[in-house]
Amino acid sequence: MDLGSLEITGGVPLHGEIRIQGSKNAVLPILAACILGEGVCVIENCPQIKDVADTLEIMRHLGCQIQCAGNTVQIDASGVSTFETGGEEAARIRSSVLFLGALLGRMGKAVLPLPGGCAIGERPIDQHIAALRQLGARFYLEEKITADAADLRGGQVYLGMPSVGATENAILASVPAQGETTIFHAAREPEIDELCEFLRRRGAQISRTPEGDLRILGGRRLGAVRYRMKPDRIVAGTYLLAAVATRGQVAISDFPCQELNALTTVFHDMGVSTICGEDRIEVNAERPLRALPYLETAPYPGFPTDLQSPLMAVLCRARGESQICETIFENRFRTIPELQKMGARICAEGRCAVVKGVPALVPAGLAAPDLRGGAALVIAALQADGTSVIRNTGYIERGYEDICRDLRALGAEIRWSDNG
Ligand code: UD1
Repeated sequence: MDLGSLEITGGVPLHGEIRIQGSKNAVLPILAACILGEGVCVIENCPQIKDVADTLEIMRHLGCQIQCAGNTVQIDASGVSTFETGGEEAARIRSSVLFLGALLGRMGKAVLPLPGGCAIGERPIDQHIAALRQLGARFYLEEKITADAADLRGGQVYLGMPSVGATENAILASVPAQGETTIFHAAREPEIDELCEFLRRRGAQISRTPEGDLRILGGRRLGAVRYRMKPDRIVAGTYLLAAVATRGQVAISDFPCQELNALTTVFHDMGVSTICGEDRIEVNAERPLRALPYLETAPYPGFPTDLQSPLMAVLCRARGESQICETIFENRFRTIPELQKMGARICAEGRCAVVKGVPALVPAGLAAPDLRGGAALVIAALQADGTSVIRNTGYIERGYEDICRDLRALGAEIRWSDNG
């Protein structure tokens, strides 16, 4: 874990317009998809974040030739020669599980470390395994996961829940498999559609039925591609929440506003004025904020679990009492004790938390508990008069290219310091 910290002097309303980095949750499955088919894949607007660096390292271990120049990554997977993900990165990052579907598709076999729990909870992979079994894979689970599918074939995949990762694994395995696959109860997150779009540009045949299922005609030749990543809706949401928290006025350009409908609905309920264009979104939070009587996280198009902690940091100073229930991950309230150090009044019981708005937060020394919890602490610190220090910023760097650069561009007083 990185020992760096962030120093934030709060109390400054954010103002300005910003563009958003490429999407983390879309690029991770897209990178895994680069090992399928033939030809070089060039990914533009690839976010320079730790999760991407770790994924590229896993791909180098598999035999990929990778060249990075700024935000452009070029991947030649013609040399992939092993079905075993090596290196500590595969054990460290959760999304390495996506190489299960990709390696089965490419090599007919995959060996991965068993995924442990992570900071936000247990995160089992039963849905991934069930989905791939329905496509003909056999599994042996000992110290490692070994999957074998000499006869991977299209079929009917029923997901017990719309898991994002399990849907992606089912797509990655079924695109190279012969025959037609239907994925029922598929996740509807925009990142799934971006993975499908990427694969279609390479020659795959994938469509979403009116019911939301995914239909894949497998076995088509996949070729080279140059693809530009779309902006990250969670990073966009984080910066909009930071703007609202500081009673500022911020616009995000080149961003499809409808992807954040769940957030803009919340803004409306809180009394934040929002202008939603086709490719621009602007918030103005100069009026006092109202509390939210009840909000629960849900799969897309519901309120994203990844924005739950950042929203909680904003509600700490809203007028009245808010209730937030986390329905996706069991361990996403680890930000609460840190927010309490700043004077927030939050009481959690089970999966729900009640936030009583206070007039002001006080600066404090804080530790990021996980990626989005770290972003939430940044938002809290931006509201407190005086200087807060946030440690464990390595978590934040897993998903934000440079949160310091972006928030400074909006007028925040925030800087990296290495005195962790
Ligand atoms: C992805 C996102 C993460 C986001 C989450 C939910 C990436 C890299 N990460 O994570 O940022 O918070 O979607 O939108 O895209 N589950 C099972 N069994 C399984 C799989 C999942 O029980 O086999 C449970 C999980 O424990 C969790 C819920 O289903 O409670 C949702 O998980 P899932 O949609 O799979 O999330 P991830 O793909 O891990």
